[in-house]
Amino acid sequence: MNISATDKFKNLLDSTLSEGSFLKLTLSKPANSELPQNIYAKAVQLKKGKALSCTLRYATKDITQNFYLGIELDNQVDTWLGKSFKIATLITEGEETVLQFNNKGEAQIRYIKNQTDKKAQVLTHNKEKNYLIEEHSKFLQLLGVSSKEGKVYNDQQDKFRQINKYCEIMSAQLGQANLIKNCYKALKIVDMGSGKGYLTFALYDLIKNQLGRNVEMLGVELRTELCDFCNKQSASLEWNEGLRFAAMDILSYNEGDIDVLIALHACDIATDIAIAQGIRNGAELIVVAPCCHKQIRKEMKPQGPWTEILKQGILMERQAELITDALRALLLQKWGYKTKVFEFISTQHTPKNVMIAAVKSNAKMNEGTNQIEKDIQGLKDTFGISEHYLEKLLKG
Ligand SMILES: C[S@@+](CC[C@H](N)C(=O)[O-])C[C@H]1O[C@@H](n2cnc3c(N)ncnc32)[C@H](O)[C@@H]1O
Repeated sequence: MNISATDKFKNLLDSTLSEGSFLKLTLSKPANSELPQNIYAKAVQLKKGKALSCTLRYATKDITQNFYLGIELDNQVDTWLGKSFKIATLITEGEETVLQFNNKGEAQIRYIKNQTDKKAQVLTHNKEKNYLIEEHSKFLQLLGVSSKEGKVYNDQQDKFRQINKYCEIMSAQLGQANLIKNCYKALKIVDMGSGKGYLTFALYDLIKNQLGRNVEMLGVELRTELCDFCNKQSASLEWNEGLRFAAMDILSYNEGDIDVLIALHACDIATDIAIAQGIRNGAELIVVAPCCHKQIRKEMKPQGPWTEILKQGILMERQAELITDALRALLLQKWGYKTKVFEFISTQHTPKNVMIAAVKSNAKMNEGTNQIEKDIQGLKDTFGISEHYLEKLLKG
């Protein structure tokens, strides 16, 4: 019995997915202009099982959809092959298989040896190479991280890794704070000091398009030109209903309750202002990656053995960083947050690599406060600090 080219292709897709040699499936040449221009599919392991995670590339936006292996994917593949797309390319370790339909709908199959040194990934979202944000994501092109062909520019590789590392961390933190579960109320996220918006767009893409969670995201940024740029890109992706940027000082934020407060690399006391805004507006999750730490450095008058050690400028600077972030973590705990301090991304990529993540706990605000207050006071006494700026902000 003769097997049609389409069935051969489907069988191959099935077997490479189940044996693990599948690398990528690309669909191109759509049958009409309402369809995506391309679909890029990769294999992922989701909670409910293995799936193909597909990026549907339209002229102005990307949409991500997952199809579980089995009937769901089989039905989808039947619609894609020949009906919706004229070319399907299956890339596996060592070979590309191209299924092509002519105008009469007749299919031909070609096998091309490839030189790829890529190996199929273990199916997990957390593997370094199985990026959550893929290099061909439309927003990366608009922000100048990747080219029109969907390749990350050489000088943007660190930024690309940082974006992905950040999304991995946020995905875990949102899970811990129990904020991913689908509900009708949109998750309200404020990113304070959003700059050019790389991480803001990435997080929006992750939550809205990949996790399928309703989200309202606001980037707050002093520089009007950056807000204008980001709003323009958000509109061109048709994301502007959920993702917008406001040109203002984070001190003046007054748009009410926040679910997630983010401040990445906001200078000096801007991080403290952001944390205070998060606490005051009831944020369930606060994530900050501090930048410079001038306020505490100016305040420090080291006592005892520290006097000698901190005579060296660089040691004083590093110690000021440690004390500032230790006090921030303690103050967050005092205000009822379970707090972790960890490395955000390797120092090889940026020296500003400490992240503080705080999840609001059910414990009452004053539970254990006495001990925390003693710890805060002890630290301040040792280094001759009268007041941390965050303490001052939280006094009222
Ligand atoms: C180093 S950039 C970080 C941008 C982005 N969060 C990132 O990590 O890629 C810090 C941004 O915070 C903004 N910023 C600093 N102080 C601010 C304030 N008080 N209110 C609003 N934005 C502020 C700056 O204009 C700058 O764009």
